Amino acid sequence: MNEYDSERMLALLRGEYVPCRRPEEADLILVNTCSVRQKAEEKVYSLVGRFKQLKARRPEVVIGICGCVAQQEGKHLVKRLPHVDMVLGPRRIFHLREALREIEAGHRPVVWVELDGDWSPPPPGPLGERPVKAYVTIMQGCDNFCSYCVVPYVRGREISRPPEEILREVECLVSQGVREVTLLGQNVNSYGRKEQGFPSFAELLRLVSEIEGLWRLRFTTSHPKDLSPDLIEAFGELEKLCEHLHLPVQSGSNRILRLMNRKYTREEYLEKVRRLREVVPEIALTTDLIVGFPGETEEDFRETLALLEEVRYQEIFSFKYSDRPLARARDFPEKVPEEVKAARLAEVHRVQARITGEIYRSYLGRQEEILVEGRSERNPALWTGRTRTNLVVNFSAPEDLDLKGALVHVLIKDTGKHSLRGEYLATLKGP
Ligand code: 5AD
Ligand code: SF4
Repeated sequence: MNEYDSERMLALLRGEYVPCRRPEEADLILVNTCSVRQKAEEKVYSLVGRFKQLKARRPEVVIGICGCVAQQEGKHLVKRLPHVDMVLGPRRIFHLREALREIEAGHRPVVWVELDGDWSPPPPGPLGERPVKAYVTIMQGCDNFCSYCVVPYVRGREISRPPEEILREVECLVSQGVREVTLLGQNVNSYGRKEQGFPSFAELLRLVSEIEGLWRLRFTTSHPKDLSPDLIEAFGELEKLCEHLHLPVQSGSNRILRLMNRKYTREEYLEKVRRLREVVPEIALTTDLIVGFPGETEEDFRETLALLEEVRYQEIFSFKYSDRPLARARDFPEKVPEEVKAARLAEVHRVQARITGEIYRSYLGRQEEILVEGRSERNPALWTGRTRTNLVVNFSAPEDLDLKGALVHVLIKDTGKHSLRGEYLATLKGP
């Protein structure tokens, strides 16, 4: 979501500014920030701290902090980092041009962190490097208040974009060569629930997948409690909808899930997984996981490990619990010691590395449909793209072929730690 926000902010500045390579060359520096975990927040302070000397040398440089840390800290940021000119929360970032006018008029610092009022991303405009895939935000904010999470406080209440606006944006992207779109929201399953006359999320998927020239559709993130039967059916129905679902479980222990305020049980989660696999047997699942939530015992943790074995995720994103300002769990007793958290994280990594390895090896000898994104950055002799299940595949092809943007068949011949290796077989569509 931050990537998307940054792209749209860049779009707003086109014509007025040109991107440059190094902060030393810049007239405007915007830092778009994440506050979901302590570590991300710390990175903001160290990065922006480094711009202090730069600002001393060239006071006319405008420095802005945008996004969730901006929201969380508001005017305190300017106190702590007096060389910052602008603080824009996630609901105010698209008012960037107005903010710059204010600064030009001598009204600095600008601190805009209101969470209500309009929030509306600008149209994408002309795309720079002819990307093959793109994100489209369909909603913003979250009403779930998981006890560890800062998001509802910094991104505000759920608000959905009108379906026509979303369709127009996807059409605009497709007309510029984009073939794969990922719909974004903190909790896409509750899309349109609060707005009058909006389609449900599953209906929105149907509408988007009718857009001609779009080949692949994905979305993220889904809250397990809101994963509807209708959405599960959509996976079976919609050809463009790729066989991958990110379904954050967070913990395998019912006791911890309750403390986290997740509003589902381990059994309910597993039942949804079973149903998904009944509809789409080849579906790849990924998840987010927190270890060391306050009060997590060895037994709770074992239940999380057992869940990993039971679900067999293709990939997981696992984190040590970290206290966040405003989030309720900050005041929960029985904090898990740092070294226990680290040991549990290492164990999760060990178990999952084995499972991921096994899943990767199951691709060997298979012919996979790959949407080619371009040359591999690491090895430009190879092309790179993803399977429908969202695995990265690097592959060789005859030299005379330009495959960027094409849908191709690749024979999988080898596995790496984070990708598969293959060999071009045939072009199915495009570029
Ligand atoms: N500590 C650790 N991980 C967190 N996440 C969210 N808040 C916290 C926190 N306080 C993780 C969750 C979420 C992902 C985006 O970040 O797993 O799904
Ligand atoms: Fe945070 Fe929970 Fe909302 Fe996800 S659903 S953004 S974890 S509060």
